[in-house]
Amino acid sequence: MDEERLLSPDADENDKSLEKSLRPRYLAQYIGQDKVKQELSIYIEAAKNRQEALDHVLLYGPPGLGKTTMAMVIANEMDVQIRSTSGPAIERPGDLVAILNELEPGDVLFIDEIHRLPRVAEETLYSAMEDYYVDIMVGQGPTAHPVHFPLPPFTLVGATTRAGMLSAPLRDRFGIISHMEYYEEEDLREIVLRSADIFETEIVETGAVEIARRSRGTPRIANRLLKRIRDFAQVQSDGVINQQIADQALRLLQVDEAGLDYIDQKLLKTMIELYHGGPIGLSTLAVNIGEERETVEDMYEPYLIQKGFIKRTPRGRMATPLAYEHFNYPYQA
Ligand code: ADE
Repeated sequence: MDEERLLSPDADENDKSLEKSLRPRYLAQYIGQDKVKQELSIYIEAAKNRQEALDHVLLYGPPGLGKTTMAMVIANEMDVQIRSTSGPAIERPGDLVAILNELEPGDVLFIDEIHRLPRVAEETLYSAMEDYYVDIMVGQGPTAHPVHFPLPPFTLVGATTRAGMLSAPLRDRFGIISHMEYYEEEDLREIVLRSADIFETEIVETGAVEIARRSRGTPRIANRLLKRIRDFAQVQSDGVINQQIADQALRLLQVDEAGLDYIDQKLLKTMIELYHGGPIGLSTLAVNIGEERETVEDMYEPYLIQKGFIKRTPRGRMATPLAYEHFNYPYQA
């Protein structure tokens, strides 16, 4: 289902190549996330002055907000190489050692979805992060013996959708923990204008505002919509993206006025129509819309909460009066 979902914040192959072409390389080009940028710029400058590796950085927040991009920006700013992997790609400690072994002093090791790192691999990371060495067992049975690998100083940049999913020992080993937030409309507008410029697509201010407003606070979605709307403008009009064209295209793509797609709508309507607005447990909700509990929790719910359509209560999730209003249902408390 995700493959087809236009507003899914998860990256598919198209997004990956799109993002490659749009990626800012330095902090000064990175739009939004001001708090994260401010903090990082200080730590980066200090580390560079001391000619040391930057402290390990944990980036957490919903998908699509630029965690991978930020990891690359950090490496560029530090003027070092970056090696990238992900939690699920590492099955054994040996996989991790193979990557660690390639690091030059000061390099960045980026681990996406670090919360999905197998426990044994995670434990290998502890000494690597803390004292720049790993001890691993080599051989089997009676010939098995530990081998000590010293490592160069390096910076681990980990990315995760929720910091709470990391074990405490791992979380505690990050000197810098940065929370990425949904983007302000104003920042998204700027990102859309920048991307349109790179695409050499003509867009007017109000067109960019419309896309920004309906992109779930997520650059990945804004850029994906921009690309679709560009096609629409080319075929249906003179190629210029204005508010009217953007609105028409978004309607066609079934992205509503608040930037909700059919899954968001289904989720809210399920709460209202079947459960009188809740409270409803996350698992029940997930089953009702045919998604994994984790998917609902990481991808759909955070934005709906941020926009005030859903409220978390100790007894479960509740649809707010705003959700009722959005669908023109009378609100019954
Ligand atoms: N493209 C996608 N995200 C961006 C960002 N945060 N800044 C600049 N360009 C971007």
